[in-house]
Amino acid sequence: MIPHSIIEDLKHRCDIVDVISSYVPLKRAGSNLHGLCPFHSEKSPSFTVFTTGEPHFYCFGCGAGGDVISFTMRMENLDYRAALEFLAKRAGITLPDDSRDTTRDVGRKRVLEMNLCAARFFRDCLFDEKLGAEARAYLEKRALSSAVAKRFGLGYAPPSFGVLHDHLRKNGFTDEEMITGYCCARSQKGNVYDIFRGRLMFPLIDVTGNIIAFGGRVLDDSKPKYLNSSDTPAFKKSRNLFALNFAKSHADTRLILCEGYMDVITLHAAGFENAIATLGTAITPDHARIIKKYTSSVVLAYDSDGAGQTATNKALRILADAGVDAKVIKMDGAKDPDEYIKKFGAQKFAALLDESRTRFDFKLDNIFAEYNINVPEEKIKAAAAIAGEISYVYSGVEREIYTAKAASLLGIDPKNLKNDVDAAIRRRARKEKKDRPGELYRAGMGISDRVNPDFARHPKEARFEEMVLGLVFLRKEYLTRAVDGVPLTSDDFVTALGRRLFETVQACEADGGFDMGMLSESFTLDEVSRATYMRQSRENLSDNGPEVFDGTVRALREGNERAKQMDDADGVFDLIRKKRDALKNNAPQNPT
Ligand code: UTP
Ligand code: MN
Repeated sequence: MIPHSIIEDLKHRCDIVDVISSYVPLKRAGSNLHGLCPFHSEKSPSFTVFTTGEPHFYCFGCGAGGDVISFTMRMENLDYRAALEFLAKRAGITLPDDSRDTTRDVGRKRVLEMNLCAARFFRDCLFDEKLGAEARAYLEKRALSSAVAKRFGLGYAPPSFGVLHDHLRKNGFTDEEMITGYCCARSQKGNVYDIFRGRLMFPLIDVTGNIIAFGGRVLDDSKPKYLNSSDTPAFKKSRNLFALNFAKSHADTRLILCEGYMDVITLHAAGFENAIATLGTAITPDHARIIKKYTSSVVLAYDSDGAGQTATNKALRILADAGVDAKVIKMDGAKDPDEYIKKFGAQKFAALLDESRTRFDFKLDNIFAEYNINVPEEKIKAAAAIAGEISYVYSGVEREIYTAKAASLLGIDPKNLKNDVDAAIRRRARKEKKDRPGELYRAGMGISDRVNPDFARHPKEARFEEMVLGLVFLRKEYLTRAVDGVPLTSDDFVTALGRRLFETVQACEADGGFDMGMLSESFTLDEVSRATYMRQSRENLSDNGPEVFDGTVRALREGNERAKQMDDADGVFDLIRKKRDALKNNAPQNPT
């Protein structure tokens, strides 16, 4: 078996979009990409590559799905090990012959040592009279004092291709280590060169004080504005937050989540030491779980432009799913907290924090900003949009409160708005059914399911099972969540495939952490696709919170009881049938 760290490394070197685009032309649509499915013939694209969260693909037409490894297995018709070799070759690395070979496996400790060495080097460059002059001028332009720069350990990577490489080599680090640690890269010609050049360097420090990665900003308007370390044995960007090392001791009431490093630094300098940011990526469920460890209350201070507001929407959902109560500040007259504080001062920003809005109020504001409710047609549209929003709220009580509030703001009868909400719920339920071709296929044919042969036997329960598994794939803390006092066990599942999937997630999670890619090792491609489908069906929905999970587990457990009774009854019938057949066979033959 190949160690998981190596597979992780391989996966981040073989970007799923790069790999798939070499077979299928992909078009971007929001954060995802679409194309014509290479696994079945189609005229309009239903093949989708999801780049957020755990990157994966799924075809809404034929149901094929999985990660970059299962894509390669399918496309190149290879087994698991051969697909790994194939991808390794593509990435220009060699896989260990056997798991005992750890010499190539640059460990976390080594990368941390190297990062520390690099950070000191960058800092010395920043404060070097000549070398750092331009970068220091930039800091001044951004009103960032050298005391703040020192507190955050900022540095400067000189524009040359080899100074860091030289410095690290003198300190005993090998090329292999520098490449694995994302300090250097190897060119086509085979030369090893510095990745960060001519950039202001922001070290990323974890809560125990290790420097785990870097972000680097250009000093002018060139692109890309920021360059961030990709994942290394010491760093996973979906699991780390900038400045949490400082903010964690100021999180007693709440954390302020921003988009940019600069926002965080300006906020800290202005006395808001509870500000954090993600690292060049949208917030993930992992981030939300980490935040939840420190506080259950977050204020979102994303950019005020359209992209920032879209990201706010997404963050609200992910945080709510993790049980974090998130509010949103309303920032007028500035594009981000950095600019706001410089323009209006810290006191005004403190007032914004106190006036921050709930998730529902944030959505209401957006709708009221979009439509002019003094115009009847627009008021109708606004009401429809609001009904749509409320229909996503899981709790009936909350729905009632929101309905009353929105109706009074719109100046309409709450009963009418409630009818619209109910209609929206029904409409979505119908649409969800239609969007699940795999299920329709099974339901429509009512015949055996090749991938999950037990499905047809107890379709209703198996559907609950798929929902529960989808939720578990999406949010691993559900693995241990007690529902009515008891966490899930494999006995709760009705089909053999369901049980096996659950047991695998459990085992992998206990053994250092599960991700969907691990399924390719012990499940068939079709089974992996089915698991991807389960996860995908949940990911498309807006509410995957604990209430939904609890409700679905209860439904599954009740269904499971019924299914077992049914199986027992079948058992009795089987017995009777066998007895009858036996009697027939033993009966004296009729003379012919
Ligand atoms: P912003 O463009 O808002 O940057 O991107 P900023 O932090 O406010 O920087 P200034 O004020 O222009 O100096 C927000 C975050 O998105 C990520 C970085 O983490 C950045 O802090 N980002 C942005 C990248 O990773 N790469 C980019 O090219 C741009
Ligand atoms: Mn900014």
